[in-house]
Amino acid sequence: MTLRLIAAPGAAALTRRLSAKLDVPLCRLESRRFADGETYLRIDDEVEGCDIAVVAQLRDPDPQLAGLLFLADTLRELGAAKVGLVAPYLPYMRQDMRFLPGEAVTSRSLAKIISAAFDWLVTVEPHLHRHASLDEIYHLTTAVVPSAPAVAAWVQTQVAHPHIVGPDEESERWVSEVAALAGRPYTVFEKLRRSDDVVELVLPEVQVMRGHTPVLVDDIIASGQTMAMAVKRLLAMGFAPPVCVGVHAVFAGDAAGLLQRAGAARVVSCNTLAHPSNAIDVSGALAEAVRVELECVHAGEEEGSGSAFAGR
Ligand code: R5P
Repeated sequence: MTLRLIAAPGAAALTRRLSAKLDVPLCRLESRRFADGETYLRIDDEVEGCDIAVVAQLRDPDPQLAGLLFLADTLRELGAAKVGLVAPYLPYMRQDMRFLPGEAVTSRSLAKIISAAFDWLVTVEPHLHRHASLDEIYHLTTAVVPSAPAVAAWVQTQVAHPHIVGPDEESERWVSEVAALAGRPYTVFEKLRRSDDVVELVLPEVQVMRGHTPVLVDDIIASGQTMAMAVKRLLAMGFAPPVCVGVHAVFAGDAAGLLQRAGAARVVSCNTLAHPSNAIDVSGALAEAVRVELECVHAGEEEGSGSAFAGR
């Protein structure tokens, strides 16, 4: 089966990398907005009978989703065989429960929409907190690329005497993986609520960190508040300015400035979302996941859902 890649608007650079790594052609997509804001799409290549992987970097998902769904539908109408989605950053995963009565559980809603539109999904390090795995909410074939190997390799080569630090308890999952792969120790901040308004970050093991460079690792840098708070706390405790590693560089608003003002030595991210902080390339692992995923889809090894690569 012939595989072709198609870049959703904004994902051209990553799609070119994937196309080179997989040695498969790109499909041309013309995309623009009409004056009233509606989306115009034209697929300017033959797709009939081909497997298509749509690559989308969903930093700002609300305006991006309509075009993505139209694209998937058009590909099917034009006779594409299997239509997959490569979304290295999977948005909406943090609204994973109804915190207040009547709230939308948008992780679940988006999963239903994506599952109906595509045949398979490959992503990197989704924010799995209250959902144990993607397969709980996504009903298509899914594969998860872990970010820890690439992050650990970067830390090993770029930081002298690193001590991996998680900015909150939720981060322990990825922080412990990075530390194990890098062969380095790790510590995770605990949040202590002193009053309704005052939350204090506490490090359980301080002495073991002395003389090391703290490397804060989190899955997402969005507003930058979580990371900035941890940076300030580490500096107040007398540690060297920390290196901040975020897997997904959402960087909403002034997040980059916030981290700089907090005193971070360096801020880097994986290239799941294009951003000037991208220093860790995950395109090789992504390409391999796409290759394996397609083999599995065609071998009929999955029944409706399941993980072909490194899902969890
Ligand atoms: C939390 O659940 C995540 O793992 C991140 O810590 C969080 O999303 C970061 O968000 P922000 O940059 O807005 O503090």
